This record gives sequence, C-alpha cells and structure tokens, in this order.
Amino acid sequence: VVLILDFGGQYTQLIARRIREANVFCEIVPYNISPEEIRKKEPKGIVLSGGPASVYVQNAPKCDKEIFELGYPVLGICYGAQLMTELLGGKVAPAPVKEYGKTEIVLNNTIPLFKGIERDTIVWMSHTDQIELPPPDFKVVASTDNCPIAAIANVEKKLYAVQFHPEVSHTHRGTEIIRNFLFEVCDCAADWTMDSLIEQTVKEIKAKVGKHKAVCALSGGVDSSVAAVLVDRAIHDQLVCIFVDTGLLRKNEGDMVIETFRKNYDMNIIRVDARDRFLSRLKGVTDPEEKRKIIGNVFIEVFKEEALKIGDVKFLVQGTLYPDVIESGNGVSSTIKSHHNVGGLPEDIGFELIEPLRMLFKDEVRQVGKELGIPEEILYRQPFPGPGLAVRILGEVTEEKLEILRQADSIVLREMKKFGWYNKVWQSFAILPGIKSVGVMGDERTYAYAIILRVVDSYDGMTADWTKLPYEILESISTSITNEVPGVNRVLYDITSKPPATIEWE
Ligand code: XMP
Repeated sequence: VVLILDFGGQYTQLIARRIREANVFCEIVPYNISPEEIRKKEPKGIVLSGGPASVYVQNAPKCDKEIFELGYPVLGICYGAQLMTELLGGKVAPAPVKEYGKTEIVLNNTIPLFKGIERDTIVWMSHTDQIELPPPDFKVVASTDNCPIAAIANVEKKLYAVQFHPEVSHTHRGTEIIRNFLFEVCDCAADWTMDSLIEQTVKEIKAKVGKHKAVCALSGGVDSSVAAVLVDRAIHDQLVCIFVDTGLLRKNEGDMVIETFRKNYDMNIIRVDARDRFLSRLKGVTDPEEKRKIIGNVFIEVFKEEALKIGDVKFLVQGTLYPDVIESGNGVSSTIKSHHNVGGLPEDIGFELIEPLRMLFKDEVRQVGKELGIPEEILYRQPFPGPGLAVRILGEVTEEKLEILRQADSIVLREMKKFGWYNKVWQSFAILPGIKSVGVMGDERTYAYAIILRVVDSYDGMTADWTKLPYEILESISTSITNEVPGVNRVLYDITSKPPATIEWE
C-alpha cells in the first residue's frame, strides 16, 4: 500500500486515483496519523497531499516529523512539498509571483523521479507560497521562470518534493512522474488489479459471514448491484437480495432490474410490492423534509419485515464507496449530505455490515462490475435518488401525478439516449412542479401541467452545472412530452447550477 496523507487539498482523491490506475493500492489517511500507525500499515511509500494552508501560519496542519525518519520514500506535492521543506529545516515564504495554471518547467531527468521525462515540459501549478531554501542535503531538481525551486530531492533518502501537481492531467508527464515514484523510487509491484481485488474480497466475505445469512437492499443502482453480485459470488445461497418497489420508481424500472438480474445471474431476489403502502403514507403530505422522512421510515419498515421473514439474518450488505469513508485532512468524515441516505438503511438497523466496495471509487466499482459481467445498462445508469420520483413531484404525491411524471421521465431518457447524450451528462430527468397553465391544442384551449426538464453535468453530485444541451434535443424532448403525455402542455428547462440550486427540486 501507498499512503496519502491528506492535508485537505482539492486533488487528494485524484492522487489516489492516479496511483490506483497504476495498479498500486493506496489509502487516504488523515495528515496527523502517527508514525506508529504508519509503520503498522507497512507502506511502500508515502505521499503528502496539497492543501489550502500556509506552512508558516499558526495551527497549520503538520504531520509528525518522524515520518521522514522511517525509511519510507516520501513524495510531497504542493503544500506537502512545502511542509517537507519546513519540517526538514528549509524555508518557505510567500511567492513574489503566484503561479496558476500550465507552466513551463525545466527539470533534472537524471533523478529517478523524472526518469525518461524530457527536460522541458509543462506542469500544472497552483500556489501562493514557495520553497525559498531547500533543507540541508536536498538539491534543486526543477525550476520555472517564476519559481526557481519547483522541485527538490534527497535521492539517497528517497525524499522528493514537487511544487507542481503531477496528479492533474494538465501536467503533461504527470502520470509518468507518479509511476516513477511508485516503481523507480518505492519499488511497488503493479499487482492491484480488479481480478485480484474480487478474489481477495470474495475470500474475506466468506470468512466473515461463515454459515450465517446476509440480506442486501438491491435498488438496481450501480453500487447496490455490484455489491450484491460480488457478495453473491462469495456466499451465494446465504444471500437474499430484497428489491422494494416503492411505486416511486421510473417507468418499468422494477421489471427491468429484476429481469436483468434473473437473466444474468442465479441469485435469490425477493421483489416486494409496497406501492400502496408508500402512497397511503404520503397522502396529504406536502413538506419536502416530511416526505423524505416518511419514505425513509417506510423503506426501513418494509425491509426489516422482509428480513425477519427470512429469519436468522446476521449481515447487511451495503454499497458504501470510498469517498464516503475517507477521513479528510480536517479529521472529519467527508460529509455526504445526510439526505443522500434516504432510501438507504441506517447503520443501527441491527445487522452487522458487509461493505465490499468501501475501498473503491465509483469508476473502480464499475470496473469490478464489468469483471463480474454486470450489463452496461446497469453499470452506466445515471444516479437516481432513493426517494425516487417523490422528490420530483412538488407537494403532495398522487398516483395521477406519478403517472404523468413516469411518462415524461421515460421520454427524457429515451430522447437523451437517442441523441447519444445519456452518458454524457450526470443526470437528466423531469420534474412535475404541479403548476398548470393555459395552452392551445388544435382549436381547444387547454389548462394542463408544466414539466420542468433538469439536465446537469457533475463530477460527484456535490456541485453541478446545468447542461448546455443542443437546441434540437431540447426541442425533441419538448415536442415529445407535450405530444405524448396527456395532461402536459408546457415544458421548461432549468438553467440553474448547484449551488445555488440543488440538483433535485426537493
Ligand atoms: P441534490 O439534490 O442534493 O442531489 O443536489 C445531489 C445528488 O444526490 C442525489 N440524491 C439522492 N440520492 N437518496 C439518494 O440516494 C436521496 O435521498 C437523494 N437526494 C438526492 C441526486 O439525485 C443527485 O444525484
């Protein structure tokens, strides 16, 4: 394993992804991890991430200086480079000229870190401080016009510090620099592959579960699907997947998910029809938070009842991913908004957890899914919120409104796929705000619902941009919805980003 000490930099997860792309396993750990804990993990190398602070201010996040004495190779990036400098006796100061963006650099390619890289290349810079004086026994190994000390090294001790960001794709030879660190400096083996990961995880799950039973809430989303198939591979007969039909799903979604799984796998799947139950409990409820709470509670009730029927269940499979478990540089778990768990299950539901994906990023989950033979229509589905269409119908949820929204939504997806845009965007869906307006159809005056189209680009759902969808797609969606969905005479496009809006409307 390679350890990444997180100082709160915006690119920390990117460093991890780059290392894993080189088939080396890595973990992100808090910057203040003790040397003792580091030793326990027996890392091949350590990376110090970037971060927003200045090393010379009071309370700047600092790692234990002893880390440099443990004999492990260390690569400091940006803030990490400055911190290494400071802790080892060099000097860091505000840069007279701040650098931001692509920058020409001249580097010394006789050292292992820059092996095989041309002397003149382009790197990504983003800093306001810089190294003014390297620590004793370090030599300067790269410089730019405005940053004379852009990288330093103590080759003997395998300590390297770079002011630029090799993890960012704008650094032309960034991948090679990271690979050099892993393979030329740390002596890592490129043996972390999806194959070996699956094999290893299957072994672990078998050992953990023993002869007991496990349940899984299968939603048909990427994470729960991959988790279910993976655990099924380990303990087949002892796993029961529960698919709860809330009635708040998209058109034909329940059938699609169940059929896909039946066709491809011989798994125990129970489909629970709880549509009436959800709808009756939502009757008359208009407050968004109240709706979410009810849906969450009913989901847990239904799921628990089913699990009880199976009897003697000890484990619950959850599709938790790595970004949800990383402790950030501030020592707090990266906070996925609590409402994102609605439609999921609480931790204290009374089962022990199996989280086979908890060390993986989303793209890695998809790779695992691919290896496991999960069809692309599942692996590349857009995210869909747990409370489903209920948070896309403003105000009270009724069957009439659900039917209209299901139809509109399925048209949006159909058209997005038809134009080849479904997988280019983060999400594309319809909202029923419940407002009616006057229209004309033939010679008839109509008074019918408006549908709002929401299409956004996003990396992780935390922020999002509204998608500049070509007019012809907008037109096709609008025409199709007003032609095909009874009760709708108007389509609007939401041109708000997040923030200040959210992606969903409730
Ligand atoms: P917002 O609306 O907060 O949504 O910008 C961000 C992302 O999270 C999804 N979302 C949810 N996912 N349960 C989920 O599993 C939820 O309760 C939930 N609410 C929002 C939303 O679709 C978007 O991708």
